[in-house]
Amino acid sequence: MPVTEGLRAATTVAGLDLFAPEFVADPHPVLRALREDSPVHHDARTGLWLVSRYADVRAALLDTESFHPDNALTAITPLSGEAKRVLARARFGLPPTLANNGTDSHAGLRRLVGQYFTQARVEAAVPLVRELVADRLRQVSGRCDLALHIAYDVPALVLLHMLGVGQVDMPVFKAWCHSSLELFWGNPDHDRQLRIAADAGAFHQWLGDRLAVAGEGEDLFSALVRHRAPGDRPLTRKEAVAVCYFLLIAGQETTTQLLATMLRRAAGEPQLWRRMHEGEPGLVEHFVEEVLRREPPVVTWRRITSKPVTLGATELPAGAHVLLMLAGTGSDPEVVDEPESFCPGRAQARRHLAFGYGRHFCLGAGLARMEAAEVLRAVTARLPEVELLDEEPPMLGLLSFRAPLEVRVRA
Ligand code: HEM
Repeated sequence: MPVTEGLRAATTVAGLDLFAPEFVADPHPVLRALREDSPVHHDARTGLWLVSRYADVRAALLDTESFHPDNALTAITPLSGEAKRVLARARFGLPPTLANNGTDSHAGLRRLVGQYFTQARVEAAVPLVRELVADRLRQVSGRCDLALHIAYDVPALVLLHMLGVGQVDMPVFKAWCHSSLELFWGNPDHDRQLRIAADAGAFHQWLGDRLAVAGEGEDLFSALVRHRAPGDRPLTRKEAVAVCYFLLIAGQETTTQLLATMLRRAAGEPQLWRRMHEGEPGLVEHFVEEVLRREPPVVTWRRITSKPVTLGATELPAGAHVLLMLAGTGSDPEVVDEPESFCPGRAQARRHLAFGYGRHFCLGAGLARMEAAEVLRAVTARLPEVELLDEEPPMLGLLSFRAPLEVRVRA
């Protein structure tokens, strides 16, 4: 490695702050430095072990004996006693259900949820996505924010429809979701913790109320009431609420983030935009995949070691909190040629871990890919060209989630 590169790498890794605006704006220089210099790196600020090479991340995701998912939904910023009391009053709890479940109840819950997102169900949702996007596009002209007009609520409406949840008050629902993401993956101060804990608590109570009146239908709530865990045990209220809570957030916030990142990227690539506008076959799908490889919305995911284990050349003690740097895996030169160039249709397009891997592999990967492709096809078809108005948009920069909050363009 050239000397100047080594210096850059040392300074970026040494001063690493996972919440710093520079890191959020472009995490790739640091991810690259981590991969090259310290692939299993202890971060003193958070106490997390950062794992950045594709092979190590994949190995950790596959080794479910040594790497448990129990800490997947733990608040990274410790919550104050007061914030915890706000949550307790709402009977808030996150027992093991899906992403945070290493126990024998995981497989059954995964089957239950998976039936809503089969390939056939995803294909059946295409007309709804097209209709929603066409409706949004009728309002797009002149200066506008594509994140607000297109990305904000389309994934939520599709998810709620697929799960049979029905109508919600969308601004309230989205506020609950945003607060929940910040509570567990953000860096909120004391006052902010109280506000967002109240939102998370209100969301929990709403879900509990919906479950309490669930009927015999095919919707998610009814299916959870009917569900039996191993030992023919019905789910507790807390477990059923926790499945809904995780799924209603994970199943649409992530896709909203993907859409915002993708639209921003596309707006900054006029030649590719034009080719998509002209309908070049396959290009839209390739573009989506390349965004997932290079700028996935879920940038990290956590595991905790159940015993001492060696990862790469590093010994991790039992109980080590591990942060898998998913966003860097698709840019690892060991698995992808010229990882820094944005090249839709490249040979190793799917060699990334944006949706995880193994037992907990994302159940919504097909849905997210479909929604992104439909949105990109419709937007580029309708708008022959757009001009990106903001080079440095405000960013969502949480421990595990990254996306532009605005995509301002002149259409
Ligand atoms: C671009 C959008 C999305 C991304 C990047 C994403 C990413 C992820 C990641 C990284 C995991 C953890 C995997 C692991 O631990 O190995 C995960 C799990 C999960 N995702 Fe997604 N996701 C997205 C969209 C969705 C959607 C649309 C749904 C539902 C419709 C969904 C449902 C789930 C569920 C249920 C799990 C837990 C699976 C389990 O523990 O068995 N996700 N997702």
